[in-house]
Order: sequence, then structure tokens, then C-alpha cells
Amino acid sequence: MKYAIISDIHGNMPALKLVLEDARKQGVDGYLLGGDYSLRAPWFNEVIPTLRGLPNAYAVCGNEEKYLHFPEKEDAQFAICYWAAKQMQPENLAWLDSLPEQVDITLNGVPVHLTHHLERFLGNEIATKFHTSVLPVRYPERPISPERFQADARQLLLDSPTLSAVLEDLPAGVYVFGHNHAQWNARFGDHLFINPGSCGHPIDCMPFGACYALLTIENGAYEVESRRIPYDPEPLIRQAMQTGQYQADPVWSSLIFMDWRSCSEHIFSFLRYVEMYANRVGDNRRPFMRDTWQAAFEEWGTLGYPLYTEGSL
Ligand SMILES: [Fe+2]
Repeated sequence: MKYAIISDIHGNMPALKLVLEDARKQGVDGYLLGGDYSLRAPWFNEVIPTLRGLPNAYAVCGNEEKYLHFPEKEDAQFAICYWAAKQMQPENLAWLDSLPEQVDITLNGVPVHLTHHLERFLGNEIATKFHTSVLPVRYPERPISPERFQADARQLLLDSPTLSAVLEDLPAGVYVFGHNHAQWNARFGDHLFINPGSCGHPIDCMPFGACYALLTIENGAYEVESRRIPYDPEPLIRQAMQTGQYQADPVWSSLIFMDWRSCSEHIFSFLRYVEMYANRVGDNRRPFMRDTWQAAFEEWGTLGYPLYTEGSL
């Protein structure tokens, strides 16, 4: 049996279409869905019904599902969430709200565990090595090859002082997670760890593409293949600019477009920059209001949108 593992779609219907088309060609029998289905790209009302219609699908919620329940205020910081919450069709929101944090199943005799957050399985010490803000520092010469990222990820785990305790604590099986939008997998004996990467918003310093993973389970044996379908982000950006999301907050949209164009994160960096800017101008209003939000973005632009690295901003 083959399963497509798809996570962090973030409303990107064109990317989901590419992944589902490829998965069908690979002959998948089922789907494991890792959370974060909306926010960032604006087509979540197409994404969610598509996912709900998939056969043999198991799904968990992501951390960003909760942003759809933030009470609306006048701030700009969460403008994209307010816009998405207003557009979200009630049946789609009900589906998101029904999703569990973790799914533990047996597929063809193999225990498979699915959750959004990798720290739930691997602990914080390992999880921080894959934080989106760490990757551009690690790979200044990006984009790097998937082969290099994959080898480095395995080595990072091998070098971790906590890996042996993690492997002792977890029973053998397949552990699937998403969250940090980086595509890798690692096998240690009978433990297989899989991050399929982000289907809709990859920021792992590898070439831009729609990411997922293919899990094959046969006669008690299991293996995984990372798959990455390249496509041009420019038509996606042009399409997104025609939607109400762009009008709701061009700053948010610009950050998203920068991520897509560079396949590395800008949102975390800007959030650090706006915090520093607000402190400097004596604005203690949180969440950030529109005047500070926009002024900080403009100032950040005059510096060339530098990414956050410890001590750089
Ligand atoms: Fe995500």
C-alpha cells in the first residue's frame, strides 16, 4: 500500500493539485494529512473540500487552524487571519475544528503516528535545529540540493545528544509530522521519521516546488520517498494578487510572495523587525497596529529585507 503524506498546504490549491496528480500517478491508496490547511495562500475553500473527498485519509490539525478563531480587532498583525476567517465556509471550518492533534493507526501491520509538531516525537532539542529561521543561516548559498539537505538532516539527528533517548522512548514505527516546512526523513533501525515538507509554502532553502512524501508499506516493511514537484511561483503570485487577501493586507501578502520566490522564510524575520521597530519608536500596542506595521515594513525594505539571524537585527 502507498500513502501520500501531505502537510502545510496553507491554502495553496495549485500546489495541492500538482501533488494529488503526482500521487495518483504513483498509485497511492491513501493519504496522511499533517495540518495547516489555510492561511498564506487564499484558496482554502477549494483545498478543504478536496481533502475531505480523498479516500482512506487520516488528518490532524496544525497550529495555524487556531488563528481562524482570533477575535477581530483593528490591528494589522492578524489581518490575514481575520480575512481568512470571514471567507472560510462554515462546513470547512467545522471540518478543521473536528481534527485531532494526533492520529495513531496501524497500516498494513505497521504502527504509524501522525501529528503536526515534530517536537512531540523528537523533542525540542532536535526540533530547534529545523526552525525556519535557522535554515537561511545554515545555507547562505541557497538554493541547496535536496540530497544535501537530506544528508545534513540525518547528520543533525545523529549528532544530537537527545537522539538515543528519543529512540529508546518511542516504540518502533513510522512517525510523521510537518510544521517547519522543511522536507526530510531519517531512519534509525525500525524508527522512520518523516517530514514531507510543505505542499503550499516551502521555506527549506531548496528549489521551490510542491512537496510531499510517499510512504510504501508492504509485508511489514516500510520505506519513504520525498517528492518535490517544481513549478513557477510567479503565476501563483499574480493569481493571489487578484484576491481580497492581498487587499486585506499587502504587507502580509508581500511577505508570503518573498517566501515563495526565495523558498526561505521572511515572516519570522519581519515579526522580529517590527518588534524592534515598535520598541524603538515607543509603540507598546500589541498586536501591531497598521501604522507601525506598514512603517516597519517600509524601513525593513530600505535595508533590503534582511533575514533575522541571532544578533543581526
Ligand atoms: Fe505550516
